[in-house]
Amino acid sequence: WKMTLSKICCIGAGYVGGPSCAVIAQKCPDLTVTVVDLSAHRIDQWNSDTLPIFEPRLDEVVKACRGKNLFFSTDIDKGIREAELIFICVNTPTKTFGWGKGRAADLKYIESAARRIAEVAQNSKIVVEKSTVPVKAAESISNILSANVKPGVKYQVLSNPEFLAEGTAITDLLNPDRVLIGGEPTGEGSEAVKALSWIYEHWVPKENIITMNTWSSELSKLAANAFLAQRISSINAMSAICEATGADVDEVAHAVGTDSRIGPKFLKASVGFGGSCFKKDVLNMVYLCECLNLPEVAAYWQQVIDINEYQRRRFTMRIVQSLFNTITNKRITVLGFAFKKNTADTRESAAIHVCKYLLDEGAHVQIYDPKVPRDQIMSDLTMAEITDQPERVPELVTICPNAYEAAEKSHALVICTEWDEFQTLDYQRIYDKMLKPAFIFDGRLLLDHQQLMDIGFKVETIGKRL
Ligand code: NAD
Ligand code: UGA
Repeated sequence: WKMTLSKICCIGAGYVGGPSCAVIAQKCPDLTVTVVDLSAHRIDQWNSDTLPIFEPRLDEVVKACRGKNLFFSTDIDKGIREAELIFICVNTPTKTFGWGKGRAADLKYIESAARRIAEVAQNSKIVVEKSTVPVKAAESISNILSANVKPGVKYQVLSNPEFLAEGTAITDLLNPDRVLIGGEPTGEGSEAVKALSWIYEHWVPKENIITMNTWSSELSKLAANAFLAQRISSINAMSAICEATGADVDEVAHAVGTDSRIGPKFLKASVGFGGSCFKKDVLNMVYLCECLNLPEVAAYWQQVIDINEYQRRRFTMRIVQSLFNTITNKRITVLGFAFKKNTADTRESAAIHVCKYLLDEGAHVQIYDPKVPRDQIMSDLTMAEITDQPERVPELVTICPNAYEAAEKSHALVICTEWDEFQTLDYQRIYDKMLKPAFIFDGRLLLDHQQLMDIGFKVETIGKRL
């Protein structure tokens, strides 16, 4: 299995497929990179001036390569046929029905991509699983491919999980802590690993490209996300102790994080982690443990999710209690709707859940986010799992063009996302527009609380008594 690569294809033009292939195209001018997707709308957006996702520096990378060695297309079959190596970057959401509902990963998109490859491939391919999957998914892909193989065609399936975080995707892709490649421990397997490694070696130091067996690689991705989510749930659990005792969670995080064995990153207490992956991947592992008859291990990781949900509820309950135990018909301003700053992505955003609790109490919610479009917010808040009264959402929710309008005649300001611009707002101007007493609930420990109290605000934050 000796292969020199000239054309590669990526199935799935999402948050991972788009940025990672744009960076590959930029760093490997000798490769032609085609990203394909079922969604014509998404592909049109990738080919337009307004890309389907917002990521700092993504525009410049795409513009530098698009039409030269980077192409976005709906012609999936042609993409597959021409490529020597194919990334599978499709979504792997949590199942919403059937066995493992609410926990197991739904692998139908992975399977259909694999079946498509088997159907149209006319020569041998390296198939690279980049989506996050349960352990042994590569084996399923391999089984589907070999059950449908055409004469003269061979496949090697590799695991190459992606570790980028949204909002910093391009920086993460350009300077990854490590690239992980899992393959079969055979001669052909290691040739395929070498071919994929060659792509990354265009810009990643060789010592940062780690190779291992396929199952370790698949599990390492779930493990990394579980450890990261666990750190947030651990500091958020501390924040509850801080609020009850008068300790300050930022100080505790600093003290703990200066231990070089623990390290300072990912210890910021918050209203809870969001994003498309932490919850999904931890639940995926919980389900895996249950299937492997490891109930104690499953329960251990389930707690990471439970604390996250508790944190969102706890934060919103404090809002209601502070506002004299009733928020019905009160106006409440929510600043930030994305699950973190520098992205327009709202998947599993804590803001959705905070708004849900506020709406359940009959509050009027005035929302401002610098990047999330109005329709996205409205559709998130009318999802079946968020409300059983979707018709009330347009009546109770107003999307505002800036923070000042969102604060108009409001009783409380709630910070849900740590956007930089919220630190430089004119809070005196905001205070003047609000009803008194004017409250601020800082769900991100983002603002200068003393300055706000000097203006006259009543301030509440996570993990700290003020
Ligand atoms: P996404 O929903 O943004 O994109 C997936 C795309 O795949 C969609 O555009 C969809 O139309 C397309 N698709 C699905 N089935 C297809 C098929 N059979 N043929 C062609 N196209 C198909 O998802 P994402 O956020 O890019 O995540 C993809 C995977 O990467 C997931 O497994 C996720 O867990 C993992 N991951 C995501 C991130 C992240 O930050 N979003 C980071 C690391 C890993
Ligand atoms: C996360 C991981 O960081 C990536 O390595 C991984 O590739 C990705 O999941 C994935 O598999 O999808 P992402 O979800 O994009 O990336 O963003 P993070 O920066 O990890 O933030 C996740 C959530 O945790 C956000 O809501 C963020 O606000 C919150 N967070 C993060 C905290 O509350 N405190 C922190 O200290 C850090």
